[in-house]
Amino acid sequence: MTVSLILGLQWGDEGKGKIVDLIAKDYDYIVRFNGGNNAGHTIVNGKEEFKLHLVPSGVFYPEKIKVIANGVVIDPGALIKELDEIEARGYSMENLIISSNAHLILQWHKIMDGALDDSGKIGTTKKGIGPAYSDKASRTFALRACDLLLPEVDLTKKIEELATYKKPLFEAFDFPVFNVSDIVEETLACAKRLKPHIQDTQFILNNAISKNKKIMLEGANGALLDIDHGTFPYVTSSSVSAGGACTGTGIPPTKLGNIIGIVKAYTTRVGSGPFPTELNDADGEKLREVGHEVGTTTGRPRRCGWLDLVLLKYTCMINGATEIALTKIDVLDGFDEIKICTSYEIGGKKVSDFPLQPEKLEKAKPVYEKLPGWKSDISNCKKFEDLPPNAKNYIKHIEKFVGVPIKLVSVGPKRDETIIL
Ligand code: GDP
Ligand code: IMO
Ligand code: MG
Repeated sequence: MTVSLILGLQWGDEGKGKIVDLIAKDYDYIVRFNGGNNAGHTIVNGKEEFKLHLVPSGVFYPEKIKVIANGVVIDPGALIKELDEIEARGYSMENLIISSNAHLILQWHKIMDGALDDSGKIGTTKKGIGPAYSDKASRTFALRACDLLLPEVDLTKKIEELATYKKPLFEAFDFPVFNVSDIVEETLACAKRLKPHIQDTQFILNNAISKNKKIMLEGANGALLDIDHGTFPYVTSSSVSAGGACTGTGIPPTKLGNIIGIVKAYTTRVGSGPFPTELNDADGEKLREVGHEVGTTTGRPRRCGWLDLVLLKYTCMINGATEIALTKIDVLDGFDEIKICTSYEIGGKKVSDFPLQPEKLEKAKPVYEKLPGWKSDISNCKKFEDLPPNAKNYIKHIEKFVGVPIKLVSVGPKRDETIIL
């Protein structure tokens, strides 16, 4: 099998960017299949750091082919800004391919996102993700990357036509106004720049598979933010899970090989929604501080808590994870005692399966097992044998509980701060 899938098994920010960059050297194609610039993937190489939002985490390898596939929603202006920043730092983005079927985020989507989530009920990134996927599903108001290939006059006409549908809706809901001629002007400029990259990626990827090229699919967001399987309505609007990797690329399920779940050694969440192991105490503050838990995209502090194995068992199940990469375990270095949630208590009853409705999850009280900490710096450990016994015990405990082998342990943000098991 030549296709590997990497995806986050919690609420995002598990360290996907680091792991994708680390193993990208073994792949020919690195492909984003869902989400948009709500994602923020950090990659560190020596002293250099990139925070990527739309571009796959392969930018340190200019020769690799980077694909933004059909399942992604693209803000063309944001993409060009990101490409400019990467190229200004000396990394060519010539090898970027954008799917002609990917939907575009326009100014009105961002305005709607801001207005609809004004109260912060969901706590979206306000990048226009939800409204763009809504237009895709409604089929009426959408613009796709292939439309950027139209002659200027036709593209202008299409945007103006879309605007006539949008206007009454905006007026009815009293949303802030958008400026059609600004949108036309911006989109035409983006079209000029992005045209050479737009292709039918379904054929490109499947042809690559038939030539035994190696493909890595890089998930954005996290399994519990999945529109179908996540903690709805406190989710994003795309198919984040393994199934989404197939619909988001046109690669058939039969071609998927290993499915690598990225798991942070504790839990974080940005935005609203139930979070049973959340810590609103000194331990939570310590995780946030030591783990630098601040949103890569929005700069919001991330909510922090202990590792939740009930949740993890569920996301391993729905994604068919064949292996786990455990990240940020070094953040636990300073704790005397570390807790792991192994079941919930709801209304006096023990619950072992992750509750799928937020009303139930909100009532879930975590039941913890306590494990002794290792109280030493593990960031220099290069082999499993180098780790202190209590750190080994923590890793093996997780592996045994979820029944998926942990094949990589990350002990720092840099490439060489990694243990392969
Ligand atoms: P992503 O969205 O899953 O790619 O994750 P983010 O980049 O949003 O957040 C992960 C953060 O943790 C980034 O700042 C990474 O540089 C950092 N990071 C990744 N792996 C490790 C690790 O093993 N230890 C530590 N201390 N930091 C890590
Ligand atoms: P990466 O790829 C963490 C969260 C937002 C919000 C909810 C809906 O870096 O792991 P949206 O703007 O998508 O409509 O917001 O989803 N969210 C993420 N949280 N990491 C992400 O991406 C996220 N992408 C979306 O905070 O709660
Ligand atoms: Mg992130």
